[in-house]
Amino acid sequence: MSETQLKDAKNYDFSSYYPQIDEIISRDSHPDDPLMTVLQEVQKLLGHLPPMIVSYISCRMSLPIEKIYSVIAGYPFFSLTPRGDHLITVCLGPDCFSQGANEVLDRIGRELEIRVGETTEDRKFTLLAGTCCESCRKAPVIMVDNDVYQGVRVSKIKEILDSYR
Ligand code: FES
Repeated sequence: MSETQLKDAKNYDFSSYYPQIDEIISRDSHPDDPLMTVLQEVQKLLGHLPPMIVSYISCRMSLPIEKIYSVIAGYPFFSLTPRGDHLITVCLGPDCFSQGANEVLDRIGRELEIRVGETTEDRKFTLLAGTCCESCRKAPVIMVDNDVYQGVRVSKIKEILDSYR
Protein backbone atom coordinates (compact mmCIF):
# COMPACT_ATOMS: atom_id res chain seq x y z
CA MET A 1 0.00 0.00 0.00
CA SER A 2 1.36 3.39 -0.96
CA GLU A 3 1.91 6.31 1.40
CA THR A 4 -1.10 8.08 -0.11
CA GLN A 5 -3.38 5.07 0.37
CA LEU A 6 -2.29 4.82 4.00
CA LYS A 7 -3.07 8.50 4.56
CA ASP A 8 -6.47 8.06 2.90
CA ALA A 9 -7.26 5.09 5.13
CA LYS A 10 -6.24 7.01 8.28
CA ASN A 11 -8.09 10.21 7.45
CA TYR A 12 -11.39 8.82 6.23
CA ASP A 13 -14.27 9.49 8.63
CA PHE A 14 -16.02 6.20 9.35
CA SER A 15 -18.41 7.62 11.98
CA SER A 16 -21.39 7.20 9.66
CA TYR A 17 -20.95 3.46 10.25
CA TYR A 18 -21.41 3.73 14.01
CA PRO A 19 -25.13 2.78 13.94
CA GLN A 20 -24.33 -0.36 11.92
CA ILE A 21 -21.48 -1.23 14.28
CA ASP A 22 -23.85 -0.79 17.24
CA GLU A 23 -26.30 -3.12 15.54
CA ILE A 24 -23.57 -5.75 15.01
CA ILE A 25 -22.47 -5.49 18.66
CA SER A 26 -26.02 -5.76 19.94
CA ARG A 27 -26.74 -8.92 17.93
CA ASP A 28 -24.74 -10.95 20.44
CA SER A 29 -24.97 -13.94 18.08
CA HIS A 30 -21.90 -15.67 19.54
CA PRO A 31 -21.93 -15.17 23.30
CA ASP A 32 -18.83 -17.41 23.65
CA ASP A 33 -16.62 -15.12 21.58
CA PRO A 34 -18.44 -11.85 20.90
CA LEU A 35 -15.30 -9.89 20.04
CA MET A 36 -14.23 -12.29 17.28
CA THR A 37 -17.73 -12.22 15.79
CA VAL A 38 -17.91 -8.43 15.90
CA LEU A 39 -14.49 -8.07 14.26
CA GLN A 40 -15.41 -10.53 11.51
CA GLU A 41 -18.72 -8.76 10.81
CA VAL A 42 -17.15 -5.31 10.80
CA GLN A 43 -14.34 -6.47 8.52
CA LYS A 44 -17.01 -7.88 6.19
CA LEU A 45 -18.88 -4.56 6.28
CA LEU A 46 -15.89 -2.25 5.68
CA GLY A 47 -13.36 -4.55 4.04
CA HIS A 48 -10.89 -3.79 6.85
CA LEU A 49 -10.76 -2.57 10.46
CA PRO A 50 -9.91 1.13 10.49
CA PRO A 51 -8.21 2.34 13.72
CA MET A 52 -11.08 4.75 14.49
CA ILE A 53 -13.53 1.84 14.32
CA VAL A 54 -11.28 -0.31 16.52
CA SER A 55 -11.39 2.51 19.12
CA TYR A 56 -15.16 2.68 18.80
CA ILE A 57 -15.53 -1.09 19.30
CA SER A 58 -13.26 -0.83 22.33
CA CYS A 59 -15.53 1.81 23.91
CA ARG A 60 -18.82 0.16 23.01
CA MET A 61 -17.73 -3.28 24.21
CA SER A 62 -15.81 -1.94 27.22
CA LEU A 63 -12.70 -3.84 26.19
CA PRO A 64 -9.10 -2.61 26.38
CA ILE A 65 -7.95 -1.52 22.95
CA GLU A 66 -4.70 -3.54 23.33
CA LYS A 67 -6.78 -6.71 23.65
CA ILE A 68 -8.57 -5.92 20.38
CA TYR A 69 -5.32 -5.21 18.56
CA SER A 70 -3.80 -8.43 19.84
CA VAL A 71 -6.76 -10.42 18.46
CA ILE A 72 -6.44 -8.61 15.11
CA ALA A 73 -2.71 -9.33 15.00
CA GLY A 74 -3.34 -13.04 15.61
CA TYR A 75 -5.43 -13.61 12.49
CA PRO A 76 -4.11 -12.76 9.01
CA PHE A 77 -7.61 -12.32 7.59
CA PHE A 78 -8.05 -9.18 9.71
CA SER A 79 -6.57 -6.03 8.25
CA LEU A 80 -6.17 -2.51 9.59
CA THR A 81 -5.80 -1.05 6.12
CA PRO A 82 -7.97 -1.39 3.00
CA ARG A 83 -7.41 -4.48 0.92
CA GLY A 84 -7.50 -4.97 -2.80
CA ASP A 85 -10.45 -6.39 -4.71
CA HIS A 86 -8.63 -9.73 -4.86
CA LEU A 87 -6.81 -11.41 -2.02
CA ILE A 88 -3.90 -13.61 -3.12
CA THR A 89 -2.63 -16.05 -0.52
CA VAL A 90 0.51 -18.06 -1.19
CA CYS A 91 0.81 -21.15 1.00
CA LEU A 92 4.20 -21.37 2.69
CA GLY A 93 3.43 -24.64 4.45
CA PRO A 94 6.17 -27.33 4.38
CA ASP A 95 5.00 -29.16 1.24
CA CYS A 96 4.46 -25.99 -0.74
CA PHE A 97 7.73 -24.52 0.48
CA SER A 98 9.66 -27.61 -0.65
CA GLN A 99 7.99 -27.35 -4.07
CA GLY A 100 9.02 -23.76 -4.73
CA ALA A 101 6.38 -21.62 -2.99
CA ASN A 102 9.02 -19.01 -2.26
CA GLU A 103 9.77 -18.55 -5.96
CA VAL A 104 6.03 -18.32 -6.66
CA LEU A 105 5.63 -15.68 -3.96
CA ASP A 106 8.62 -13.77 -5.26
CA ARG A 107 7.29 -13.79 -8.84
CA ILE A 108 3.83 -12.60 -7.78
CA GLY A 109 5.42 -9.82 -5.75
CA ARG A 110 7.55 -8.72 -8.70
CA GLU A 111 4.63 -8.96 -11.12
CA LEU A 112 2.43 -6.77 -8.89
CA GLU A 113 5.28 -4.66 -7.45
CA ILE A 114 4.23 -5.29 -3.86
CA ARG A 115 5.49 -7.24 -0.89
CA VAL A 116 3.62 -9.57 1.46
CA GLY A 117 0.91 -7.67 3.33
CA GLU A 118 0.75 -4.89 0.72
CA THR A 119 -1.94 -3.81 -1.72
CA THR A 120 -1.33 -2.63 -5.28
CA GLU A 121 -1.71 1.09 -6.06
CA ASP A 122 -4.90 0.43 -8.02
CA ARG A 123 -6.28 -1.58 -5.06
CA LYS A 124 -6.83 -4.61 -7.25
CA PHE A 125 -4.66 -7.10 -5.33
CA THR A 126 -3.45 -7.74 -1.81
CA LEU A 127 -0.70 -10.31 -1.29
CA LEU A 128 -0.54 -12.54 1.79
CA ALA A 129 1.53 -15.53 2.83
CA GLY A 130 -0.53 -18.28 4.42
CA THR A 131 -0.18 -21.65 6.04
CA CYS A 132 -1.31 -25.06 4.83
CA CYS A 133 -4.83 -25.08 3.43
CA GLU A 134 -4.89 -28.89 3.12
CA SER A 135 -4.44 -28.87 -0.64
CA CYS A 136 -0.84 -30.07 -0.58
CA ARG A 137 -1.39 -33.07 -2.84
CA LYS A 138 -0.29 -30.81 -5.70
CA ALA A 139 2.01 -28.21 -4.19
CA PRO A 140 2.72 -25.35 -4.43
CA VAL A 141 -0.71 -23.87 -3.84
CA ILE A 142 -2.02 -20.34 -4.08
CA MET A 143 -5.49 -19.00 -3.48
CA VAL A 144 -7.01 -16.02 -5.23
CA ASP A 145 -10.11 -15.16 -3.24
CA ASN A 146 -11.84 -18.56 -3.00
CA ASP A 147 -10.17 -20.07 -6.07
CA VAL A 148 -7.48 -22.64 -5.32
CA TYR A 149 -4.59 -23.14 -7.77
CA GLN A 150 -2.51 -26.26 -7.25
CA GLY A 151 0.83 -27.22 -8.74
CA VAL A 152 1.45 -23.57 -9.63
CA ARG A 153 4.42 -22.93 -11.90
CA VAL A 154 6.19 -19.59 -11.96
CA SER A 155 5.63 -19.45 -15.72
CA LYS A 156 1.83 -19.52 -15.20
CA ILE A 157 1.61 -16.67 -12.71
CA LYS A 158 1.09 -13.84 -15.16
CA GLU A 159 -1.73 -15.77 -16.83
CA ILE A 160 -3.43 -16.40 -13.47
CA LEU A 161 -3.14 -12.78 -12.40
CA ASP A 162 -4.33 -11.48 -15.77
CA SER A 163 -7.56 -13.44 -15.38
CA TYR A 164 -8.42 -11.19 -12.39
CA ARG A 165 -7.41 -7.88 -13.98
S1 FES B 1 1.59 -27.12 2.61
FE1 FES B 1 0.63 -25.83 1.14
S2 FES B 1 -1.37 -26.58 0.99
FE2 FES B 1 -0.45 -27.79 2.50
